[in-house]
Amino acid sequence: MSAPSSSHPAAGSTLDSLLLSAIADAVGTPAYVYHGDQIRRAYRTIDDAFGEVPHAVHYALKANSSLAVARLLRAEGSAADANSMGEVEIALRAGYRPDHIVFTGVGKRREELERAVALELLAINVESSGELDRLHEIARAHGSIARVALRVNPNIDAQSHPHISTGLRDSKFGVPIDLAPAIFDEMTRRPHLRPIGVHVHIGSQITTLEPLVRAAESVLELATRLRRAGIGIEHIDFGGGLGISYDGAPSPTPAEYVVALAGLVRGTGFTAVIEPGRALVGAAGLLLTRVVDVKHFAGSRRFVVIDAGMTELMRPALYGAYHQVDAVLPRAGELVVGDLVGPICESTDIFARNRPLPPLEAGDLLVIRDVGAYGAAMGHTYLRRPLPPEVMVDGGEWRVTRRRQTLDDMLRLEE
Ligand SMILES: Cc1ncc(COP(=O)(O)O)c(C=O)c1O
Repeated sequence: MSAPSSSHPAAGSTLDSLLLSAIADAVGTPAYVYHGDQIRRAYRTIDDAFGEVPHAVHYALKANSSLAVARLLRAEGSAADANSMGEVEIALRAGYRPDHIVFTGVGKRREELERAVALELLAINVESSGELDRLHEIARAHGSIARVALRVNPNIDAQSHPHISTGLRDSKFGVPIDLAPAIFDEMTRRPHLRPIGVHVHIGSQITTLEPLVRAAESVLELATRLRRAGIGIEHIDFGGGLGISYDGAPSPTPAEYVVALAGLVRGTGFTAVIEPGRALVGAAGLLLTRVVDVKHFAGSRRFVVIDAGMTELMRPALYGAYHQVDAVLPRAGELVVGDLVGPICESTDIFARNRPLPPLEAGDLLVIRDVGAYGAAMGHTYLRRPLPPEVMVDGGEWRVTRRRQTLDDMLRLEE
């Protein structure tokens, strides 16, 4: 199998059937394939839409923290949003400077805060008064001043799936926005904290602009009030959350969203920070998988069993997410309704129920589309299934950017 560094020509660099078949033959299935140019285009669209408004696009690594993807976006000029110390370290290895990185997370451990202080990150997005106390003590012990943004919870319904909504008062994230002025006031009395930002993130896969704009207005109002009170707010971090269309339904474009934000921030003197994940990489990834079996008994459902499962792609099992599925080399014939299922012994390991699918036979190659975000990043090794390889198609060639995990790789931790 190809080593991570070798590259192969990719005619025209589009993800066409021949190229996908060649990749599947070379690296096996299941395998993730990313399209570098598409990620770059998504980044450029977002960055350009801000125009002259001071801004920074912090790629949310949680969507896909593969080094190759992180490096590609770094090379385009993005900054980073890390949701764990592991992601901070990945960002550093991908070439992001500490002052390019904002660090978010409900429940940061002491060691994580210590490392964040020592690194002098652009901002630590703090989630509670208790965390501020711990951070202040750590910064004092370190003899430094930590740059802090407070994550506020505006009590706004993102109108997304409840499992990926974070902006309602009863969610675990941030501090209620009405308590924020008192917490900032308290911060000004802490010599080792420097309050420089307000942060909000109300959820993910948000497909109407209204909640995003309402959240943005509420943090802008807060930041303006804080500035009037003499607090040196430099940036407003509007978080991530903009959705993509998985099923072809209309969805606001990243440019529309950014233009709306830019309209709010223009002329205020604040820098707009955003943390997009899905909008940058979601549509640029696909999962190559082969049909292992087709089961159909008289009077029962028709099951197409594939070699990818919830170990490779959790989204359908986690929140019933829809992904378009296509045959790489379609067979002639009518669509047949069936269930597309993974091989794992869990009833939730289902990619599609009652889906009209093309005629399929064991061995056929399929693509599951729009898996660039929250696909490989959520992968795991349940049933001792090795993590799949990742391939980047870019600039007229493709290369393996992560080889398939082996059982020896897995067992190294146990020996
Ligand atoms: C704090 C934070 N920022 C940014 C993101 C990225 O969100 P999305 O991929 O929906 O843009 C997330 C994901 O939920 C998040 O938790």
